[in-house]
Amino acid sequence: MVYYSRTGRTRDVASQIARELKCDIEEIRDTQNRTGIIGFLKSGYQAARGKDTVLEPYERDPSDYDLVIVGTPVWAGNPSVPVGTYLRENASKIKNAAFFCTYGGSGAEGTFRRMSETIGKEPIQTVAITEREIKENTCDCKIEPFVRDVEAAFRTEE
Ligand SMILES: Cc1cc2nc3c(=O)[nH]c(=O)nc-3n(C[C@H](O)[C@H](O)[C@H](O)COP(=O)(O)O)c2cc1C
Repeated sequence: MVYYSRTGRTRDVASQIARELKCDIEEIRDTQNRTGIIGFLKSGYQAARGKDTVLEPYERDPSDYDLVIVGTPVWAGNPSVPVGTYLRENASKIKNAAFFCTYGGSGAEGTFRRMSETIGKEPIQTVAITEREIKENTCDCKIEPFVRDVEAAFRTEE
């Protein structure tokens, strides 16, 4: 699994999914400062236009995996800029994908569509978790079926 998180929500969901699936997890880190109001505005502007950023080097090679789960916050109805960049850099290396996002409540479908267009593949499963579901701790009922479907499709028999 790879994910990006600016303020920690996507990280929380990523940690939970990775714990349940017992899968490898890697945080995508950006070299750009996205704090404060300027960072917020810049991020929305760049995401809406599909701009790229420069990522910190990441360690894992997606071509080593049968399935890559990709997590992102929704930014202006789009994947976050770091995740957009990651997908463009690794499109040809991702054999199968599943997506999750965290968001305020609008733009998840377009975000998933953009992500699948970028890699040229439909995800095997998606799940969108709202800020409210995270805050009220009611996201388990969405995460559980996602985890179950991913497990069923990619059960590792060792
Ligand atoms: C630049 C920016 C744009 C955003 N645009 C949207 C949006 O279009 N729709 C939405 O529901 N939430 C939007 N949000 C809210 C985030 O998707 C939400 O807070 C998310 O859970 C943050 O995840 P994180 O804590 O992992 O960074 C936006 C947040 C930022 C910073």
